[in-house]
Amino acid sequence: RVEDVSKDSRHYGQIDAQSGFVTRSILCVPLRAPRIVLGPDRGDVEPRIIGGAQALNKRGGTFNEEDVELFEMFASQAATALQISRLYTGMQRLFDDTIKIIANLSDARDPYTSGHSARVSQFAVAIAEELGWKETYQVRVGGILHDIGKIGVPDAILNKRDRLTEEEFERMKQHPTIGYNAMRHSHAMATHLPMVLPAILEHHVRADGGGYPAERVGPEVSKVGQIVHVADVFDALTSTGRPYRSAIPPEEALAFIRRGSGTEFDPECVEAFCRAWEKGKIKLQ
Ligand SMILES: [Fe+2]
Ligand SMILES: [Fe+2]
Repeated sequence: RVEDVSKDSRHYGQIDAQSGFVTRSILCVPLRAPRIVLGPDRGDVEPRIIGGAQALNKRGGTFNEEDVELFEMFASQAATALQISRLYTGMQRLFDDTIKIIANLSDARDPYTSGHSARVSQFAVAIAEELGWKETYQVRVGGILHDIGKIGVPDAILNKRDRLTEEEFERMKQHPTIGYNAMRHSHAMATHLPMVLPAILEHHVRADGGGYPAERVGPEVSKVGQIVHVADVFDALTSTGRPYRSAIPPEEALAFIRRGSGTEFDPECVEAFCRAWEKGKIKLQ
């Protein structure tokens, strides 16, 4: 507690000189984060000082003992909220990193799809934004995880240099269902990120009801599946591609997607994708 900073050598006057603000009195208290119990497995987060809170220039006088007590109470609540928010952010980063690692591992198994999941995710978010979606996090996660079921497709099929036989293609076509089945038992996923499931299961479903898996075709097809479908096809066409099908220039891929509007692709998603492209939101790496 400093009643008059002009008489206190600890006050750095340059701050006031630069900002034009005149500091008269100061009240500082530590932000003491309490112990936070995470559960039997994770243990506790120890109590510690995570920063400080500062009040300046009390109106009509100087800070007194009562102000200190009041401000300490305020700082204690703020410290608790900050610490919980830090923990939440940490867990969120852990989740984001984990799904990226899983997707990278899945992409790495298929030598022709390096970086595919990340690009599809980025394109899908751009489409969702153009559709006016306020919340695009689920689309981002859905894009990253959409091909996760390829983990269940044998290497001999993923790495095959020639065209797949009908039987092999049938096996490949199971990847949305494999991914969906792996995820659908997660209660947390279904509760907090429900769109991720249809993004995985329906990303090869066409707008006209074709595509696969067969049991998910028809008018009930989800928008998120259609968003990821457009993003997926664009990346498949423009990235290095399979040995039997080389990459095509983005303008040609865009024309292909435009031609498929209303048949293979959902017209609104096509429009949104074209707008995103024109705005430079679709970045090919
Ligand atoms: Fe796929
Ligand atoms: Fe894909």
